[in-house]
Amino acid sequence: MTEPYTPRVVPLLDQRSAALPTPAAAFTSDTRRAADGLLLDTRQRPLRDLRISVTDRCNFRCNYCMPKEIFDKNYSYLPHAALLSFEEITRIAKVFVAHGVQKIRLTGGEPLLRKNIERLIEQLSALRTLEGRALDLTLTTNGSLLARKARALKAAGLQRVTVSLDGLDDAIFRSMNDVDFPVADVLTGIEAARDAGLGPIKINMVVKRGTNEHQILPMARRFMGTGMVLRFIEYMDVGVTNGWRMNEVLPSSEVVKLIHTELPLVQLEPSQPGETAERWGYANAAGQHDQAAGEIGVISSVTQAFCGDCNRARLSTEGKLFLCLFASQGYDLRSLVRADAADADLTSAVAHIWAGRADRYSELRSAMAPDAGSGRRRVEMSYIGG
Ligand code: GTP
Ligand code: 5AD
Ligand code: SF4
Ligand code: SF4
Repeated sequence: MTEPYTPRVVPLLDQRSAALPTPAAAFTSDTRRAADGLLLDTRQRPLRDLRISVTDRCNFRCNYCMPKEIFDKNYSYLPHAALLSFEEITRIAKVFVAHGVQKIRLTGGEPLLRKNIERLIEQLSALRTLEGRALDLTLTTNGSLLARKARALKAAGLQRVTVSLDGLDDAIFRSMNDVDFPVADVLTGIEAARDAGLGPIKINMVVKRGTNEHQILPMARRFMGTGMVLRFIEYMDVGVTNGWRMNEVLPSSEVVKLIHTELPLVQLEPSQPGETAERWGYANAAGQHDQAAGEIGVISSVTQAFCGDCNRARLSTEGKLFLCLFASQGYDLRSLVRADAADADLTSAVAHIWAGRADRYSELRSAMAPDAGSGRRRVEMSYIGG
């Protein structure tokens, strides 16, 4: 019997210049599987969700993600040759889908900056889950290019979009994106997405204490009853450039309390296992969920970790597989693909990597003192995608 292949781990520090590893000659498939044959990691978590970053560039400079001082004109983004091509992405995605992935999210940076992204969407939308169904194919965007692109994205086979929007007040929004981008243009983009049928639309608002907490209620009122689901995200210590401090995190419990005083809420059951958001519905006079008013979500990665059933894998722009948003190491799949590895070898490599997964950063962080994790070197969100 051949030795199991141990995929090469590329440390983050120089992850973008690391030499390509020698491709594996041999693989085994002695991996942990659930009764239905799906892959399980060391904590019995299946692989269901693949997030693919298609560019490390963005036209915004949100301070919590790509602070201007670091991501300035001297910052070296990945060269074009380092990026996975659409064919390479699709080939890798196919392997993940064969392992049970049901949802694919395109992220960035800003994914709509990647040239001809519609062509990639066309290729991915042709994939089918193990049960023969279409994938849940979605994309996270800052909305700046949506007005222009929504119809073409829909025509290419994209099902829905999630739009990042940190406030409605124009001055606050311009200062948070730090490139003076007007909020009205993002709202127009959201309408265009809705008109194109890219729903159900989700709106993600990162809440920073002292920056945009006064936007919570206006945002809730604006999206209530629209069919769009607004989610409030705790500001996370992702990456190392944003100068994260615990005192800028507004716990989701406070967000819920604040909204509840004005717009009564009732907690809803999760809609899927491994969900990031806790769901709250707007209540009617009888204290029951008013379906027409809709729901909100809170994503509490800092105060209430949800690693227990985390089923998300992340593929970076240059083809490294990360097992956690907070990972500092990735597995180089691009070198395998470019070395003409057979599909079976790629499939076993992914199985082997997932089977060894033990990541649960947010849970471990909760056990540490506040701020304790903030000095560790981790991958940037603009590189790995949200
Ligand atoms: P839906 O299927 O549309 O509900 O998407 P989702 O909630 O799975 O994904 P989305 O990218 O919209 O997640 C929202 C935000 O939650 C991200 O922008 C991150 O801030 C955070 N997030 C997503 N996945 C993870 C994760 O695995 N770990 C942590 N800590 N945070 C995550
Ligand atoms: N904390 C929480 N969410 C973040 N995002 C990026 N950086 C952070 C952070 N530090 C998420 C936001 C944004 C998406 C692209 O990535 O949800 O909408
Ligand atoms: Fe760009 Fe999104 Fe990061 Fe803001 S959060 S800088 S819009 S990738
Ligand atoms: Fe998953 Fe890592 Fe996020 Fe935990 S911190 S939910 S393991 S990505």
